[in-house]
Amino acid sequence: MSFFAEKRREVMLHIEKYMLEMMPTYLKPIDTNWQPSDFLPDSTSETFYQDIKALREKAQDLSYDLVAVLIGDTITEEALPTYESWLAMVEGVSRDEQGGWMKWNRHWTAEENRHGDLLNKYLYLSGRVDMRQMEISTQYLIADGFDIGTGHDPYRNFIYTSFQELATNISHRRVASLAKKDGDTLLSKMCGVIASDEARHAKAYKDFISKIFEVDPNEAMLAFEDMMRKKIVMPAHFLREMGMKIGQTFGHFTDAAQRLGIYTAMDYVEIMQQLIEEWKLEGMRDLNEAGEKARDYIMALPNRLIRIAERMKNPTMEYKFSWIHA
Ligand SMILES: [Fe+2]
Ligand SMILES: [Fe+2]
Repeated sequence: MSFFAEKRREVMLHIEKYMLEMMPTYLKPIDTNWQPSDFLPDSTSETFYQDIKALREKAQDLSYDLVAVLIGDTITEEALPTYESWLAMVEGVSRDEQGGWMKWNRHWTAEENRHGDLLNKYLYLSGRVDMRQMEISTQYLIADGFDIGTGHDPYRNFIYTSFQELATNISHRRVASLAKKDGDTLLSKMCGVIASDEARHAKAYKDFISKIFEVDPNEAMLAFEDMMRKKIVMPAHFLREMGMKIGQTFGHFTDAAQRLGIYTAMDYVEIMQQLIEEWKLEGMRDLNEAGEKARDYIMALPNRLIRIAERMKNPTMEYKFSWIHA
C-alpha cells in the first residue's frame, strides 16, 4: 500500500470509532423513523379513492417549473444505487461486511432509499407526470454513472457529500415552501421531512471532515481545494431524457430551479462559506506551505463567485420536458 493510502487508512480507522459512537445521532432507528406510507393515501382504506382525488386536485395547482424540479430531484434520489456503490469503493476503509464504514453506508442508504420511494409514489399519483419518461431518465442516470471528481479518496468523498447533503437540504426545503404556497400541504410536508433527513446527513459528513482536519489538516485542505477547483457537480448534472445527451436536460432543469429560487448560484457560495466556517479554516494552524496556499485559494473563492453570480441573469427560456404531460 502506498504511503498515501496507508495514511488515509489510519485516519479513517481513527474516525470510524467516532462515527460509530455518533451514529445514533446522525441516523434514526428504523422502527420509529418515518416511512413513505405515513404520508401517502392508504390503499387499504375505504377513503383511498377520495384521498387520491384530493391529492390530484392539489397537484394540479403546482407550477410547471416546480413539477419539473420535483421530477429532477426525484430522479437523483432514485439513483441511490450509484451513490451506495460509490461510497463502498472508498479507499482506506475496510470492505468487511461488519466493518464500521460499511455499516454506515448501509444504514445511510436505508434512510436515503425512502426519499425516492416517497417522491416517486407521490408523482405517480399526482397525474402530472409521464412516468415512463421519468423512469427512463432514472434508468439512464443509474446506468450511465457519473464522475464527480472525487476518485476513491475518502476525504474528497466526504467533502463532496457534505456539500451535496447541504444542497439537497436547501432544495427540498424550498420545494416544501413553494408547494405550501401553491396549496399542496401534503407535498410540503413530504419535502420537509426529506429536507430534515438531509440536514442530519450533512451534519454527519461535516463532522467527519472536521475530525479529518484535526488529524490531517494539510491533506484535508488540499482535498477541499481540489474539490472547489473542480466545482461540486451535482448528480443532476448527468440527467438526460430519451434521445438526449448528458448535460442537455440539466441546463433546463437548473434554469427552472434558478427561476424559482430553489437552488441558485448564490446557494452554492453560501454552502461554501458555511463549510469554511464549520471547518474553521481561518484559524487553522499547523499548515505547511501547500496547505497555506490551498487555504488562501479557498478563502478567496466565495467573493469571486459572488461577483460572477451577481452578473448572472435569471434564465427565461422555457422548455418542454418529456417528463411532464402537456
Ligand atoms: Fe436524499
Ligand atoms: Fe441525504
